[in-house]
Amino acid sequence: MIKKAFGFSAACGAVFALSAPMMSATATAEEFFTITNGELQRPTGYREWIFVGTPLTPNDLNDGKAPFPEFHNVYIDPKSWAHWKKTGEFRDGTILMKELVSVGSKAAVSGQGYFQGDYIGLEATIKSKQHFPDEPGNWAYYSFTTPDHKSLTPTAKAFPAAACNACHAAAAADDFVFTQYYPVLRAAKAAGGKGTGGQRDELQPVMVMPDASTTPDTQ
Ligand code: HEC
Repeated sequence: MIKKAFGFSAACGAVFALSAPMMSATATAEEFFTITNGELQRPTGYREWIFVGTPLTPNDLNDGKAPFPEFHNVYIDPKSWAHWKKTGEFRDGTILMKELVSVGSKAAVSGQGYFQGDYIGLEATIKSKQHFPDEPGNWAYYSFTTPDHKSLTPTAKAFPAAACNACHAAAAADDFVFTQYYPVLRAAKAAGGKGTGGQRDELQPVMVMPDASTTPDTQ
């Protein structure tokens, strides 16, 4: 019995010894997206990335004709988040996912308001010199949303620059990203571990340069 248990753990040890270097090699090269034959494969698992904010431009406040009337739940991949905390810049390879959520109920026990309803779409933006050498800022934009908003396409082609990049280039606060609407990114910009929440007494985001000796940066 004891012998068997010992044999099992030794086998486990061997597996770990083999897989650990392989895993770190994959992690170094890892991107959070795959582009095959010019089409972005729909990314998965992004609800476990870093959530940065939820802008909303409801129809009610836009004469019933808001261009984007739904909630936008925005996430950034963890490697780019680590880079952002350290440098305040979006690394080559950054991907942000924007999940579209309908306006659901407009009343809760807490009062009148806007509450998230159902998932109705999914968009992405990626910064990559290698993949998009000719796009403005090397950013490309994608949508997996179907016309009836009931399903998602498995792959997507990048939009022409005029459809998306132009507005982002003109009005976004950082690079092509609307950080002015993402408090998580504003507070973490080059702030190291201070941007992770609960590390500061003051509530207004303060620009803090990374300092390895005082900030517990997890990168
Ligand atoms: C008229 C300006 C405008 C156009 C055109 C536009 N966007 Fe945006 N986009 C915004 C604004 C403003 C935000 C942030 C606020 C929000 O989500 O409403 C945003 C946010 C995003 C985000 C989240 C990451 C970020 O950069 O802030 C993605 C992804 C995105 N847009 C995709 C697209 C795609 C795909 C298209 C083209 C089909 C597009 N956008 C066209 C204004 C625009």
